[in-house]
Amino acid sequence: MTLFDVVFSGNDTVYGLTEGAIDAAIEKHGADKAIAFPDTAYSLPCYYAVTGTKVATLGQLKEALGVVKTLMTREQKLNDAFMSGIATALCAEFIEVLKYIDGAAPYEAPCYGHLADAVIRELGVPLVTGDIPGVAVILGAAPTAQEGVDLVKSYQSQGILVTLVGGIIDQCEELGYKTGANVRVIPLGKDVTSVIHVVSVAVRAALIFGNIQPGDAAGLMKYTMERVPAFVNAFAPLDPVIVACGAGAIALGFPVITNEDTFKVPKSLIVQPDVSKFNATSLEARDIKIKITNIDIPVAFASAFEGEIIRRGDMQVEFDGSRVDCCELVMTKDASEIEDHKITLVGPDIDEMPVGSKQSICYVVEVAGKSMQSDFEPVFERKFHSYLNCVEGMMHTGQRDMIRIRVSKETFEAGFRAKHIGEVLYAKVKSEFAAVVDKCQVTIYTDSAECTRVRHEVAMPLFDKRDERLNTLTDEGVDVYYSCIMCQAFSPSHVCVVTPERLGLCGAVSWLDAKATNELDPQGPCQVITKERPIDERIGEYEDVNEAVQKFSQGALEDVSLYSIIEKPMTSCGCFECICGIEPLSNGVCIANREYAGMTPIGMTFSELASMTGGGVQTPGFMGHGKHFIASKKFMKAEGGVARIVWMPKELKEQVAERLNATAKELYGIDNFCDMIADETIAEDPETLLAYLEEKGHPALTMEPMM
Ligand code: SF4
Ligand code: NI
Ligand code: NI
Repeated sequence: MTLFDVVFSGNDTVYGLTEGAIDAAIEKHGADKAIAFPDTAYSLPCYYAVTGTKVATLGQLKEALGVVKTLMTREQKLNDAFMSGIATALCAEFIEVLKYIDGAAPYEAPCYGHLADAVIRELGVPLVTGDIPGVAVILGAAPTAQEGVDLVKSYQSQGILVTLVGGIIDQCEELGYKTGANVRVIPLGKDVTSVIHVVSVAVRAALIFGNIQPGDAAGLMKYTMERVPAFVNAFAPLDPVIVACGAGAIALGFPVITNEDTFKVPKSLIVQPDVSKFNATSLEARDIKIKITNIDIPVAFASAFEGEIIRRGDMQVEFDGSRVDCCELVMTKDASEIEDHKITLVGPDIDEMPVGSKQSICYVVEVAGKSMQSDFEPVFERKFHSYLNCVEGMMHTGQRDMIRIRVSKETFEAGFRAKHIGEVLYAKVKSEFAAVVDKCQVTIYTDSAECTRVRHEVAMPLFDKRDERLNTLTDEGVDVYYSCIMCQAFSPSHVCVVTPERLGLCGAVSWLDAKATNELDPQGPCQVITKERPIDERIGEYEDVNEAVQKFSQGALEDVSLYSIIEKPMTSCGCFECICGIEPLSNGVCIANREYAGMTPIGMTFSELASMTGGGVQTPGFMGHGKHFIASKKFMKAEGGVARIVWMPKELKEQVAERLNATAKELYGIDNFCDMIADETIAEDPETLLAYLEEKGHPALTMEPMM
C-alpha cells in the first residue's frame, strides 16, 4: 500500500461511519431536526469555512455529505490525499455535531468537546504577543503515562496551548496531572473524531481574525499554514483513520510528528522514534521560537499557569489587600540610589507565617534608566498581575493596594519564599523593559507596621498623583495618538488607533501602554500618529490619522473616525472585550461582553454580534471595543455619547457603573444613569426593553434617530 492508499482507506472508513450515523439520526429524528454546535455563529465551522454553506438540519447534513464525497477523488496524487484528509475532517465534524442533538452535553469533565467562539477570541491577544507561541495537538497514548505527561508538561512550561485527544487523556488522569482551559491543557475527547474541535478553532480564527470568506478553501489553507502555529503529535500505533486525519492536518499546514515507523513526508510527516524529542522536533518543524527568561525560582514559570486557581484548602498563605495593608508599586529613582538585582525582605518570611493565614505584603520595585519616564510606572505595575500569575502555584488578583495573592502549599514546599517574588519581578522588568530600565531593585515588606506605612505614606499619595495625571489625559490634551498593529499577525489589515480616551479594543493597550511600547521598540507595533490636520471634529476624523491607517493597513483602509459607530467606524480584529450594536426600536445601542453567553435584545448573542465584524473590515452599526471605553466621554460622541447605551449584561454594568455614572452626570447632569440601562434580568427582547426605557425616561428615546 502507498501512503495515498492508507489515507484513502481511512477516509472511506470514516465516510462510511458518517453516512451510517446520519441515516440513523434521520430515521430517529426526521430530516428537519435542527443540529448545531453550542456558542458559535459559524454553524459547522469547518464545513462552513470550506464550502460557504451553513448546515442547520439533518437533511442538510445529508446533502452536505454528498458535497464531501466530491472531494474524495482517488488519484495517487498529493492533492487527492490532501482533499481526502479535509473530507475526513469534515466527516469528523458531522459525527461530532450529531452528539449535540437536542441540546445534549455529550462531553463530561475533564473533556471539553466543542469550544465556544469566545474561547477563540480570548486567545487572540496571547497568540499575537507570543505568550502562546504555538498550539500542540496530542493524539493517542504515549508509550508510558509518564512519557505522555512529561511531553504535555514540556509544552505547558513553554506556554504552548495543548489539546489532547484519546489515550493521552487517560494517561494524564492516571498520574493525577491537572488539565483544563485555565492551565492551557485542554482534553478534547476520547474519540479520534473529537480532534475536529481544535481544527475548528484554527478554522474559526481564520474567519474571525483573518477576514477569510467562507467558501474560500484555498485562502483558508493559506491562512492556517501561515498564521496558526499548530502541529500534531500522533502516537503509534497509527491506523488508517488517524493517518487520514493527519493528511487533513497537513493540508492545513500543520506538521505531524509520530513515533511510528511509517511513511515520511519532508516537513509534514516526521518520524521521531524518541518521544522525549517530540517537543524539539515539533518546534523545529513548525518554526516556533520560545522566549526564555531565566528566573531563579524553585517552581515553573509559564504563561500557561496564568489562569491557575488556588483553593483555600491548598494555600500556604494569603496576602489580602482587602483586609490588611498591601500594595505593589514601581518607583523611578536615580541610578545612584539603586543597586541592581538587590532584593530585600523587611519582615517575616513565608515559613514564619501560620499556614492558611492572611498577611500583609508590599513590594516596591525601584528602577532607574536614562529613558525611564514616570508615565511608564503604571504600565510596568499592571504587568505584575500576569508575572506573578505565571508562577506555578501562585495566584494574583487586583492591582495597586487592592491585591490578593495566594501561594500554594506545594509551591511553598518546593522552597518558594518571599524573596522569589522579588526574583520574578526583577527578571521580568529587566527583560521586558530592557530599553528603558538599566537598574532595578526590589524591596518586599511583610512587617505589618511597615506595610501600613508604605501603603498609606508612600503608595497612596503616588496613586493619587497618577490619577490626577490620568484625568488630565484627554484626546484634546495630547499632541499625538498611537497606532497598534499587534493583531496583524492574525488580522492582516487591522489597525487600532489608540488615544487617551479610547484604548485598544482588546482592553490591554491604553495610550500610556502604546507610548511605552513605542519607546521600548521604536520600530515596533505602536507608532506615533500626529493629529494636526482635523477634517471633522464631530466624528473625530483627521487627515494625519487617515494617512496613518492607510499606511499601516497596506491600503486596505481609507479613512477612520475615532468617535462614530456609523460613519467610518474603527475596524475590529476579533479579540475585542465587548461588542456594541445598534438596537433600532429604542434608538440606542446594546453592549455585550465576551463573558456573557446569553441573549441580547438585538436578537443575537455575543458570538453572533461579534461575527458581524472583524478581520479589519469596517462595519457601520457594529463596534468592537474595550470595557474601559464604555465610560469614556468619547464613546460614540458623534451619535450623542454614552446616553445611547440602553442595555448591558448585569455583570458588565456593575463593573463600569461608577465611572459611567460619573460620565453621564458630567455630560448630561443625569444621576445614577446605570439604573436607566436595562440588563438580561430586565429585558431580552426589544419590546420589553422599550417599556423599561420609557418607564425610566431613558435619554436615548428623545435623541435624534440613529438610522
Ligand atoms: Fe490588537 Fe488593537 Fe489590542 Fe493592539 S490595541 S493588541 S491591535 S486589539
Ligand atoms: Ni491601613
Ligand atoms: Ni486583536
